Amino acid sequence: MKNYNIAIIKGDGIGPEIIDEAIKVLDAVASVENVSFAYEEALMGGCAYDITGDPLPQETIRISMKSDAVLFGAIGGEKWDDLPREKRPESGLLRFRKELGVFANLRPAVVYDELVNASSLKPEIVKGVDLMVVRELIGGIYFGEPKGREGDKAYNTMVYTRPEIERIAHVAFKIAMERSKRICSVDKANVLDVSQLWREVVEEIATEYPEVELTHMYVDNAAMQLIRDPKQFDVILTGNIFGDILSDEASMLSGSIGLLPSASVGSKIGVYEPIHGSAPDIAGQGISNPIATISSASMMLRYALNENAAADRIDAAIQRTLAEGYRTKDLANYDAKEICSTSEMGSIIANYTVK
Ligand code: IPM
Ligand code: MG
Repeated sequence: MKNYNIAIIKGDGIGPEIIDEAIKVLDAVASVENVSFAYEEALMGGCAYDITGDPLPQETIRISMKSDAVLFGAIGGEKWDDLPREKRPESGLLRFRKELGVFANLRPAVVYDELVNASSLKPEIVKGVDLMVVRELIGGIYFGEPKGREGDKAYNTMVYTRPEIERIAHVAFKIAMERSKRICSVDKANVLDVSQLWREVVEEIATEYPEVELTHMYVDNAAMQLIRDPKQFDVILTGNIFGDILSDEASMLSGSIGLLPSASVGSKIGVYEPIHGSAPDIAGQGISNPIATISSASMMLRYALNENAAADRIDAAIQRTLAEGYRTKDLANYDAKEICSTSEMGSIIANYTVK
């Protein structure tokens, strides 16, 4: 029996309710695979600020660093929007990523066959989409210095160094080797110096992976191509802010942002979280879709704990649940046979996980 310590950060808004469902599914999987989980909760975001005055208490970093992996819900909300920047929930999340050193954010966008009608694009455009955005997570314009505000002037700096680009490129190439051996690196090299360096370094790293076909695309074109013909992409390698934007766009191919998981990796401890936000407008109503978080728990089993059989069980259970027509409200209009609440959805998936 393998015992894993999981740090749980529920966060704000719908964070707690979706994490509860992921835990339900993890416990279900533990009852049939030879694993067990010990959870330790930690605070981050607005709720952490309310209690401790800091959106990222030191205790949260301590708990996370001694865990085997972090399962994370979502943070933020209007309530904290007017706080000074360093007190805002988002600043807590950015500091957290930086302190853990998770420089690689993996955001798969997969279109379930059962949900091809849910996309805002035509079914024939999205059917079969299966791509992975590899986003650099702790550099670029999110963190570059100098930054600041002087009256009516404000500025941020987009910086990447060679080692930062090299390490994220290696992650993307390794992933591509396990997939269909194609990478599209996205930048803005026609305008930005930082993108020119990005392109040069990615080209160099590519020579170490001769089997992988590398192409480059400007980010504006990539945004367009993603909705024109998403199936042309397999692995998309890009920087922090472009990856933030393109991964939200890619998520809509699948029909709901409530479906897609992510993994932030690159150092000892990985963080597994849905790509969506805390959706304070629907929090507490039992209508949020827990699938993105349950799927993140599956990524955690696969990438952090090497428990592939357990991850396969969860993925199959999600698939079956959708195939049988169970839908949360966000997908109610798409081939739904039964509309379920957040916790009903979690229970159905948990149930199919053990069967
Ligand atoms: C994401 C989010 C975050 C980001 C915010 C909440 C800071 O949009 O994880 O994509 O921009 O990275
Ligand atoms: Mg985002």
